[in-house]
Amino acid sequence: MTDAVSDRTLPEILAIATAISGAGDLRSLLHLILSKARAFTAADAGSIVLVERAAPARFGMEEPQPAPTGDHLWFAVSQNASLDAAVEPAAGIEQQLLDIRFPLSPERLAGWCALTGEVLNIPDVYALDPDLPYRFDSAVDRRLGYRAVSMLTVPMRSAGGQVVGVLQLINRKRDPAVVLTAETAEAQTVPFDPFSQGLIEALAALAAVCVERTRLLEGQDRLLEAIITLLAGAIDAKSPYTGGHCERVPELALLLAEAAEAQTEGPLASFRFGSPEAWREFRIGAWLHDCGKVTTPESVVDKATKLETIVNRIHEIRTRFEVLLRDARIERLEGLLAGGDPAELDGRLAERQAELQEQFAFVAASNLGGEFFDAPSVERLRQIGAQTWQRHFDDTLGLAWEEHQRRCSHPPAGDALPATEQLLADQPWHRLRRDPGQRPEARFGFRMDVPEDTFHRGELHNLSVSRGTLTAEERFLINDHIVQTITMLENLPFPPSLARVAEYAGTHHETLRGDGYPRRLGADQLSVPARIMAIADIFEALTAADRPYKRAKTLSESVRILAGFRDRGHIDADLFDLFLTSGVHRRYAERFLRPEQLDDPDITPFLQSAPPA
Ligand SMILES: [Fe+2]
Ligand SMILES: [Fe+2]
Repeated sequence: MTDAVSDRTLPEILAIATAISGAGDLRSLLHLILSKARAFTAADAGSIVLVERAAPARFGMEEPQPAPTGDHLWFAVSQNASLDAAVEPAAGIEQQLLDIRFPLSPERLAGWCALTGEVLNIPDVYALDPDLPYRFDSAVDRRLGYRAVSMLTVPMRSAGGQVVGVLQLINRKRDPAVVLTAETAEAQTVPFDPFSQGLIEALAALAAVCVERTRLLEGQDRLLEAIITLLAGAIDAKSPYTGGHCERVPELALLLAEAAEAQTEGPLASFRFGSPEAWREFRIGAWLHDCGKVTTPESVVDKATKLETIVNRIHEIRTRFEVLLRDARIERLEGLLAGGDPAELDGRLAERQAELQEQFAFVAASNLGGEFFDAPSVERLRQIGAQTWQRHFDDTLGLAWEEHQRRCSHPPAGDALPATEQLLADQPWHRLRRDPGQRPEARFGFRMDVPEDTFHRGELHNLSVSRGTLTAEERFLINDHIVQTITMLENLPFPPSLARVAEYAGTHHETLRGDGYPRRLGADQLSVPARIMAIADIFEALTAADRPYKRAKTLSESVRILAGFRDRGHIDADLFDLFLTSGVHRRYAERFLRPEQLDDPDITPFLQSAPPA
């Protein structure tokens, strides 16, 4: 390298290196590299075309998916000083060539270079030996009214040796300042010299680094987002009771966040995410907000009756009633054999049969959990359950290892058969004790009341549940999903740009008044995005039409119930106002609710400024 060239070139190369090391979009970086390459070599024109590989065939599939389209080249960047000088920039070379794709074929110069990795340094592309396997395609010249003469085509090799693109320079000018025409090009250009070629090969390698880095980063981002949506989809698919929740909550959360960011006055005027990265962080948090539900047993999530474990145990209890009825019939027959009064015995049996039918109907209705189960009902249940029956079979037979251990660690008072059993009972072996490892990790600041047992399958214990079908132990397991969400996300090595994902995902069950879970955070600890998540989570659950156990609520009913959450200090009043006044509630409803749910409520009575009812 001559001193003159190094004086001029070195700072330019350093400027390129600085640009590459900083953040920048790929096209701008390629533009910079191409313009410097042209400046170093006095090239009038140039392009960078990138290789686009067809999707590889998937293992086990007969045909590649999607259908094979072959490898392609496409114009990523294109510059032409002479043509651009002659026309408006908007009609320049870049606008005419950009994004044009053509098959990666060895017959074209760029295709040959990309496929073989060979540098082609051609003095005059129109004087190419016709016996060569590649040729110059003059169609572009004809279309643009240009005349390419000397051409340098250099492969852009990635660190792994793969050609990711081709840098092509056209028409090295004798005088860098001159504007070429189709007529003057031949006379005013010279071939690219070996020094220029070496320099351009180095720049092409730099361009390859940019392309590879961008593709790697984009690929990582796409993979991360695909794994996140896969996880959310798996949770939604796990239960028909919550289907679609993980997918719809982010939609609603983003709608409300957009409305909040658009505020220029009022209490939310200062709220801004401020950057695409911060938006992405929020979106990922919203997608992952219930990821801990992968650990929640379906038998609890889907528990439809109080006695359900994996199956509804009402059948077992009904069989016991059948036993009691047969006992009554046997008693009558034994009475007859002993010479008892038939009329009196028949009457006693009829009375007992009616009593058992009525008692079973009460127990069966209790099992449904549809109505509040008050203290007198619990007492009645206990009285019914206190009746006894005789068990003649060993109840430790046919048990799996774990159940056998649990059953035999509590031997009954007497082992003799027949044994007297209660009609309904809470047995010691109904209780599954919590291991220390099943307690929420203290280091994340969880403040929840943890039941002593993981499960309590006692029949009276389950049937006595006052609201719904879940015991305190099962309710804890449901709520524990948020503990699992936080624990899982806090253990992931998120980069700094995603540092708040766990916060956004893990706060949607907290309340402004400080009695939420799992940390009982207060208003001063709940950010605007966290408050948005709480509203989105509740509203989706209220309006969801895919819960098999309940009728879908109308938009009016859902807004009224959500206003109740606001009144009780659960959710943010300003964001709830915005939710209504911005029309987010209606836009969400139009996209996700069924037509029969859309009743366009009058929002005025629900706003903070509404006069007291
Ligand atoms: Fe949740
Ligand atoms: Fe949720």
